[in-house]
Amino acid sequence: MNRRPIIAGNWKMNTSLDEALALARGVREQTESVDSIERVLIPPFPWILAVHGEVSGSGITVGAQNCYMEQSGAFTGEVSPAMLAPHCSYVVLGHSERRHVLGETDDQVAAKVTAAHSSGLSVILCVGETLEEREAGRAEQIVSQQLRAGLGNVSWGMTQSIVIAYEPVWAIGTGVAASTQDAQDMAAFVRSTLANVFDQKTANSVRIQYGGSVKGDNAAELLGCPDVDGALVGGASLNADDFGEIIRAAAAQVN
Ligand code: 13P
Repeated sequence: MNRRPIIAGNWKMNTSLDEALALARGVREQTESVDSIERVLIPPFPWILAVHGEVSGSGITVGAQNCYMEQSGAFTGEVSPAMLAPHCSYVVLGHSERRHVLGETDDQVAAKVTAAHSSGLSVILCVGETLEEREAGRAEQIVSQQLRAGLGNVSWGMTQSIVIAYEPVWAIGTGVAASTQDAQDMAAFVRSTLANVFDQKTANSVRIQYGGSVKGDNAAELLGCPDVDGALVGGASLNADDFGEIIRAAAAQVN
């Protein structure tokens, strides 16, 4: 199954407007000819329009870090999928910081996945266990639960606009990435869970990213895992050289 690798940079709540524009320009310059890799920049909400303008025509697309599960109405402070859709190709849902810092539940994530899809946004659905859960031998159970809940309303026809990001919480922002063995084992487990939820053909077509301390110097080996089809990058996506290196590492494996 030919799955086009996808490298996405989640800028989280970082960058000023000037920094965001310079970063987008830098990534554009660094990866101008790398069409084999899908490249997505995911800035904070207020910079989405400006970044979208900066990368237009480059093949790079823009994503959002979250959205609400309703399309409009009295929901002060929220942003709807319909508002994002003209400017974004993706929305990240269920990121561990939203689950663990902001208390987002599996049910909320599932409702957001449906709302995003109905507005035509593709979804990067994040799943991953904490260190405590891993040490208790519950990593697969947690990932399976988050996956099944998040995909609860997803029909077979919607699967092509879903990317799964496996991001072990203990690897996010710690500088300690999962080993290639752990990344591959969990990506394979995600794929077998997708086969149970849908079917094997669908599971083989869905892209699975690894996220958590991906850097230029470990990207090649993580992206070399047979079931890992890309990376969701935090810290290293804030530097155009570092992010460019990760994208080129992905491209080197395709060419
Ligand atoms: P880091 O790459 O900084 O570990 O962050 C990963 C992440 O949370 C991407 O969504």
